[in-house]
Amino acid sequence: MKIIGTGSAHPKCAVTNEMLEKFLDTSDEWITERTGIKERCVISSEKLEDLAVRAANQALENAGMTAADIDFIICSNVVNEYVTPALSCIIQGKLGATCPTVDINAACAGFVFAMDIAEDKLKCKKAKNILIVCAEEPSRMVSWQNRSTCVLFGDGAGAAVVTEGDELKAIRLTTSSLTEVLYYQRALEPTPYIDKEENFEPLVMKGREVFKHAVTNSCRDIRKLLNETGLNANDIKYYVLHQANRRIIDSIRNFLGVDEEKVPHNVERYGNISSAALPALLDELNRGGKLQKGDKLVFSAFGAGFTTAACVIEWAK
Ligand code: ACO
Repeated sequence: MKIIGTGSAHPKCAVTNEMLEKFLDTSDEWITERTGIKERCVISSEKLEDLAVRAANQALENAGMTAADIDFIICSNVVNEYVTPALSCIIQGKLGATCPTVDINAACAGFVFAMDIAEDKLKCKKAKNILIVCAEEPSRMVSWQNRSTCVLFGDGAGAAVVTEGDELKAIRLTTSSLTEVLYYQRALEPTPYIDKEENFEPLVMKGREVFKHAVTNSCRDIRKLLNETGLNANDIKYYVLHQANRRIIDSIRNFLGVDEEKVPHNVERYGNISSAALPALLDELNRGGKLQKGDKLVFSAFGAGFTTAACVIEWAK
């Protein structure tokens, strides 16, 4: 596969740390020091599907394609208003595409999981042009009374069009069932027969454990990929890392021993937008003219599950 178009979209409501101070026992100083986040964009009047369609249309335009050229859509999403139909079905209709679609949930690692599925579809010649859309609204999973979680997240969408090519040099996906460190349980409809205990609670996160797993696993994934491809850490132009927390990003960079300019970040503006973080940051690099043909990039993300996913690509656009 190779990526031939990127796009991104963020909600219009930017919530600064100072705005959070008005209703939470928190401070700009605490949030900035512990997370690097200064503001996040949060859904207000928009619908998530509309952000997804905006990002997808940008990616199509960037690829010089229309929805009619796409023969498969993969949408990475953790939560949205609908349990069914899948968000990808809604996006397909709004784009005016007619191809089959599927939703995946690999939490924040969803973009790289989607790339892996796309690579397999292209290799099997089951598709020629695939649209990956990551659309997330974690602001609707957290309690806005819980200062430990709500300050961390924002909403947004990122998209990429991929087609046949030889850009993907190595990829690694992992899942280790470690469900208690990060989860969100929501209510299902009652039935006359349910007699088990059920818990419904907003996002629960053991922050320190997530931090440790994120850094350890991302470093392990990246090192394995560098070994496999025979590359040195400094051969990589950019490490496009999951934008959860500036301290996590800095810790991974320090373990790898690479300079700051190799590790771009936008977590300070958007917070953690789950699986949309990687394609949105990639879109910024692409549109900012930062990527040249032949540049080697590492993508690496981690998410609830615990999932991790990383890959090395050689930019071919
Ligand atoms: N403002 C002020 N104080 C706060 C806030 C806040 N927003 N949040 C927590 N605190 C307080 C706590 O209540 C605690 O107070 P106490 O000592 O009186 O009990 C104190 O700060 C320290 O809390 P810790 O949780 O120990 O703080 P820590 O240094 O671990 O930082 C953080 C918390 C930022 C969540 C950190 O653990 C972290 O970054 N973890 C990773 C989180 C993450 O990136 N998750 C992504 C999840 S989703 C995904 O992408 C996989």
